Amino acid sequence: MAVSFKDLGLVNTREMFEKAMKEGYAVPAFNFNNMEQLQAIIMACVEVKSPVILQISKGARQYANQTMLRYMAQGAVEMAREMGSKIPIALHLDHGDSYDLCVSCIENGFSSVMIDGSHLPYDENVALTKKVVEYAHRYDVTVEGELGVLAGIEDNVSAESSHYTRPEEVQDFVSKTGVDSLAISIGTSHGAYKFKIKPGEQVPPLRFDILEECERRIPGFPIVLHGASSVLPEYVEMINRYGGKIENAAGVPEEQLRRAAKSAVCKINIDSDGRLVLTAVIRKYLAEHPSEFDPRKYLGPAREELKNMYANKCKNVLGSAGKAE
Ligand code: G3H
Ligand code: 13P
Ligand code: ZN
Repeated sequence: MAVSFKDLGLVNTREMFEKAMKEGYAVPAFNFNNMEQLQAIIMACVEVKSPVILQISKGARQYANQTMLRYMAQGAVEMAREMGSKIPIALHLDHGDSYDLCVSCIENGFSSVMIDGSHLPYDENVALTKKVVEYAHRYDVTVEGELGVLAGIEDNVSAESSHYTRPEEVQDFVSKTGVDSLAISIGTSHGAYKFKIKPGEQVPPLRFDILEECERRIPGFPIVLHGASSVLPEYVEMINRYGGKIENAAGVPEEQLRRAAKSAVCKINIDSDGRLVLTAVIRKYLAEHPSEFDPRKYLGPAREELKNMYANKCKNVLGSAGKAE
């Protein structure tokens, strides 16, 4: 039986983005696959009073099951309310790859979906996105589309032919499809290896010129940044110190994300940074406590560190802290 996101205490992204656009910040979109990640996201956003978008990827659905994840999100909303918080929470399908999947998520209580047709020829991307929008809007669910292909891996789809968003297409795409937000490609990519650089080299700056040209062509329209983890060196170092091997990893400097958040970028996607925090703390704990085998002993501190990292993103990078008061 279909369930509406409204019955689950969730919101779509429309008002979230209107406020973010007006006040010059970005709403965090954090991915989750398990209970500890979800708890950390909710605890952080409640603590700093930030709106939040909970994201579920294809990989997450395969790992944890879509129904399980939806009920977990429902539980998270109730947990936030029990904590006395009224922060807006959206449940979003990350990188939806088909119309049927978007329909299934909408029927299962998602308040927002991404239909990622970025790898398709332009006209096919328009047609697929428009079809999803027509269905989603019947249920007041918001839709994110994408133009331009990020380098690296887009949810198991190898994006070998990455290319920046072409600003001359954005106005036509937005008006033909009716999407509520648009992900663009300005030099970010997914994962922990975003830039091919040698140790000591600076990462190249994002293409803010493309972002500005997009903003000029679709003024006031919410833009989304994928692949926005910063790959924080302290956690990479911690992983390597305690037996891991993560070499030449590099992310988007937080300074550049701060700049993006003040522009029309209203949603910033972060997944890898959370993965690195969890792995670093768990590696350290197990190395220092070799006889421990209760998962709560290492997942607990990992969750706490993750919460602090998310809270810091909201306060000092995205500017979303205090925006849900
Ligand atoms: O867009 C990529 C996200 O980080 C999700 O990745 O498919 O491994 O869960 P995943
Ligand atoms: P990161 O891999 O940079 O965290 O990007 C996540 C993302 O874009 C999810 O859609
Ligand atoms: Zn993404």
